[in-house]
Amino acid sequence: MVRRPGKAPAVTKTGAAGKARAAGKTGTIRKALVRDVKEVHSLINEFASEQEMLPRSLNELYEHMRDMFVYEEDGGLKGVCSLHVVWEDLAEIRSLAVGLEARGRGIGRSLVEKCLDEARELGVSKVFALTYIPEFFRLFGFGVVDKSELPHKIWGDCIRCPKFPDCNEFAVSKVLR
Ligand SMILES: CC(C)(COP(=O)(O)OP(=O)(O)OC[C@H]1O[C@@H](n2cnc3c(N)ncnc32)[C@H](O)[C@@H]1OP(=O)(O)O)[C@@H](O)C(=O)NCCC(=O)NCCS
Repeated sequence: MVRRPGKAPAVTKTGAAGKARAAGKTGTIRKALVRDVKEVHSLINEFASEQEMLPRSLNELYEHMRDMFVYEEDGGLKGVCSLHVVWEDLAEIRSLAVGLEARGRGIGRSLVEKCLDEARELGVSKVFALTYIPEFFRLFGFGVVDKSELPHKIWGDCIRCPKFPDCNEFAVSKVLR
């Protein structure tokens, strides 16, 4: 792989397929800034309107922007993912989205790994997600769990979901080491 001088590699841990895809990635993952929030809002709500994820209001995104990592490439945001600490021993991975044109290049993987790294740094022992695609999270060692295992306070978000109460999301969780 040829790297331009001064450019840090954008990806952390990946398998062989991920490394091959990463060769095409020139962007970086960084914490979100206030100027990113409107772009993140458009990205998330584009997929929320297709029922791929839960919609988020601008207000909510500003309030939780310190949870967010974004992937920036060529001056634009191509992906986002948040780690939200819920309790002493628990954090949620939420608002994971990669733009359609940027998919399949390992960006989603890098964003999830960044959130898992941050959870470890913070001393969180367990991470969960609510998702329509448990197969994606299985790649990171998450397993499907019964929703009743998660604390009640996380269901506050569900009330705002267009699918409530006929939810077809899966709860997945992973113990960190
Ligand atoms: C899911 C999503 C974030 C994946 O992003 P991406 O950048 O295309 O994913 P990557 O290129 O990093 O793929 C990493 C791995 O996940 C797999 N994968 C990607 N999308 C997948 C999906 N929808 N279901 C199952 N596996 C998936 C890839 O095949 C790849 O596997 P490999 O490394 O073993 O080859 C992206 O499709 C998306 O934004 N979807 C809409 C929003 C959404 O569903 N968010 C999740 C809600 S919790």
